[in-house]
Amino acid sequence: MKVLGIDIGGSAFKGAPVDTKTGRLLAERHRVEVDAPCPTVQGLAAAREIARHFQWHGPVGIGFPSVIQSNRTGPVGNLGRNWEKKDGAALFGRATGGKARLCNDADAAGLAEMKFGAGKGHQGSVLMLTLGTGIGSALFFQGRLMPNLEFGHIPWKGKPIERFASAAVRKRRGLSWREWALRVNVFLGVVERLCSPELIIIGGGVSKKSDKWFKYLKAQARVVPAKLQNEAGIVGAALAWEEAGR
Ligand code: BGC
Repeated sequence: MKVLGIDIGGSAFKGAPVDTKTGRLLAERHRVEVDAPCPTVQGLAAAREIARHFQWHGPVGIGFPSVIQSNRTGPVGNLGRNWEKKDGAALFGRATGGKARLCNDADAAGLAEMKFGAGKGHQGSVLMLTLGTGIGSALFFQGRLMPNLEFGHIPWKGKPIERFASAAVRKRRGLSWREWALRVNVFLGVVERLCSPELIIIGGGVSKKSDKWFKYLKAQARVVPAKLQNEAGIVGAALAWEEAGR
């Protein structure tokens, strides 16, 4: 089936129509920059602009950076508090003119990697981590997702650990790749104590530059970059739309 996938990040909304059977984008993705934090009106306008760009009137899957329960948003750290506890299906449905469904952004990226990317065929425990403005996490066992895992919010020195180790922190603090990778190692050490995954897939923009920093990583698990890279969130949002209807 064909679903418009939209991946919502802390600095941009990105979308493209997706063929859920093949995981392919049916057109080049369209990206709309937003402010951080992003006012609700601006974000909804960005979603509308993406739908309009593709002249889309069909189903819309949204990967959203918070816990999502029954299409409702939970606490939203990085996008802005004005997005909290909203009926996302109604808001994004009105904005795009299609039937919208929401899922957590990292869950979306994980679904895509498990079906078409680095996790394909893995039956053991697989942890997807997205390193961007925040840190997203999604855990799979025997190919099934345990939704809404929030490892980026593990407390570290009194703050969520994503404020110590996300990709945005590297830029903000001007850290070298090595300095930042050592922080990622602290994070990996904590999550490995909690869930002992066999495979860790790392996504987000920094996964494209894995040659610069993967050499510094230390983990018990095998750590690999996401195969779909920046597209995982878009493809996964479309897959989640389809799965929710089953
Ligand atoms: C949010 C998660 C999200 C992650 C990546 C965190 O701040 O709480 O829900 O998956 O950022 O966007």
